[in-house]
Amino acid sequence: MNETPCPIRSPLLRPTAMRVRTLQVLPVLLLAVCGAAGAADFVGPDSCKGCHPEAYDAWMQSKHARATDSLGEQQKKDARCLSCHAPDQAEQGTAAVTCETCHGGGQYYSPSYVMKDAELARLVGLVDPSEKMCRTCHDASSPSLRPFDFKDALKAIDHWSAERTRKAARAEAPPSTPPPASARK
Ligand code: HEC
Ligand code: HEC
Ligand code: HEC
Ligand code: HEC
Repeated sequence: MNETPCPIRSPLLRPTAMRVRTLQVLPVLLLAVCGAAGAADFVGPDSCKGCHPEAYDAWMQSKHARATDSLGEQQKKDARCLSCHAPDQAEQGTAAVTCETCHGGGQYYSPSYVMKDAELARLVGLVDPSEKMCRTCHDASSPSLRPFDFKDALKAIDHWSAERTRKAARAEAPPSTPPPASARK
C-alpha cells in the first residue's frame, strides 16, 4: 500500500521485550512517521481475543466471521467474490471479514503499551470504521434485498456494548479487584 522505503521496517528495530518502555515507543513512532503503518501485517482475530473477549465472541456470532461459508467451492477461489467475502485472504491469509478488515492490520497497534494510548494506536494503523467503509462492500452490487441502513447494521454487529459495560464496572469497582482472567496477559 505504501511504497516509501523505510529503514525502520527492518525486524531488527522492532520492539523487543528487553527494551524499556521509552525505547519501545520510539520505533513505533518512527514507523508512523515513515508511513509504514498502512502496510502493517495482520495478526489474526485470535490475537485480539485475549484482550477483547466480548468483542471476539460477538464477532464470532456475526455473519462477518463466516462470510466465506456462503460461497461454493469454486467461488471460494473467485477473486470477484473474495473481494468482499474475504478481502484479505490472498495477502493476509484471513478467510472472512475479520477484526482487521475493519480496524486495520494490528501488527503495530496491538501490543498492550500501544493499545493503551488511543492516539498512538491510531498513528500506527488502528482505524475507526466509518459508514463509508461499510459501503465499500455493502453497496448496490451486494445481494441484500433491503438497502443498507448504517444505524440498523451497526446494531446488528454490536461487539462493543458488552465490552464497555465490563470496563465501566471495573472502573467503579475497588482498586483491589483483579481484572477478569480473560483480560490478563
Ligand atoms: C494486549 C492486549 C490487547 C490486544 C492484543 C489488542 N487490544 Fe485493542 N485495546 C486494548 C486496550 C487496553 C485498549 C484501550 C481501551 C480499553 O481499555 O479497552 C484497546 C482498545 C482498542 C480499541 C478501541 C480504541 C479506542 O480508543 O476507541 C479497538 C478498536 C481495539 N482495541 C481493537 C483491537 C483489535 C482489532 C485487536 C487485534 C488486532 C486488538 N485490539 C488487540 C488491549 C488490546
Ligand atoms: C461488493 C461486495 C460483494 C461482492 C463482490 C460479493 N458479495 Fe456476496 N454479499 C455481500 C454482502 C454485503 C452480503 C450481505 C448482504 C446482506 O444480507 O445485507 C453478501 C451476501 C452473500 C450471500 C448470502 C445471501 C443471503 O441471503 O444470506 C451469498 C450466497 C453471496 N453473497 C454470494 C456471493 C458470490 C457467489 C459472489 C461472487 C460471485 C459474491 N457474493 C460477491 C457483498 C458482496
Ligand atoms: C464490519 C466491521 C468490523 C469488524 C469485523 C469488527 N469491528 Fe470492531 N468496531 C467496528 C465499528 C464500526 C466500531 C465502532 C462502533 C461505535 O462506536 O459505534 C467498532 C468498535 C470496536 C471496539 C471499541 C470498543 C469501545 O469501547 O469503544 C473494539 C474494542 C473493537 N471494535 C474490537 C473488535 C475486534 C476484537 C474485532 C474482531 C474480533 C472487531 N472489532 C471486528 C467495526 C468492526
Ligand atoms: C470487506 C467487506 C465488508 C465490510 C467492510 C463490511 N461488511 Fe458487512 N458483510 C459483508 C459480507 C460479505 C456479509 C455477508 C456474509 C455472509 O452472509 O456470507 C456481511 C454481512 C453483514 C451483516 C449481516 C447481514 C444479514 O443479512 O444478517 C451486517 C449487519 C453487516 N454486514 C454490517 C456491516 C457494517 C455495519 C459494516 C461497517 C462497520 C460492515 N458490515 C462492513 C462484507 C463486509
